[in-house]
Amino acid sequence: MTWDKLEKTCQTCRKCSLSDSRNNTVFGIGNRTAEILFIGEAPGEQEDLRGEPFVGRAGKLLDNMLSVIDLNRSNIYISNIIKCRPPSNRDPLHVEQDACIAYLYEQIALLQPKIIVCLGRIAAQKIIDKNFKISKEHGHWYECFDVPTMALYHPAALLRDPRRKPDTFLDLKELQRKIQEICERTYL
Ligand code: URA
Repeated sequence: MTWDKLEKTCQTCRKCSLSDSRNNTVFGIGNRTAEILFIGEAPGEQEDLRGEPFVGRAGKLLDNMLSVIDLNRSNIYISNIIKCRPPSNRDPLHVEQDACIAYLYEQIALLQPKIIVCLGRIAAQKIIDKNFKISKEHGHWYECFDVPTMALYHPAALLRDPRRKPDTFLDLKELQRKIQEICERTYL
């Protein structure tokens, strides 16, 4: 498999009914040789219109969160659990996640990240543990695909409840510590 082949296959995917209502698939963005992979939930309205992950308000906050620890869209890769927008931004159904997750697994196989960061409960429950409790287990390290993996609060959750921002700042600093410990590149 190659990145280009995978992206083309994903763009014309009809594996679930979200393909009927999408404007664009949202494959992923960033550096295809990155050491750090961020995984969100699903595209929202803006993402569906642009074909790019995290371009709405939550995306702006994500960019700010990344900049706290000297990351940006050119030194990480960003993808989602599912690649098409669920109607009215509802949670993706299990059947939709199961239909789509193979694309993310292929992305992980191509990227071979050294660190994975799940954004929010839906991504953490699919990648880390189906019973993952985001309020208790954010910022902790787990091993997924043989790679250290942690979850942060989803930026949309931080917009809804800014009282969670101090915890997220500490989680970002812990992520930065891990990056300095195991990544080969320098992020300054
Ligand atoms: N929320 C997500 O989880 N992913 C996006 O791409 C946009 C918003």
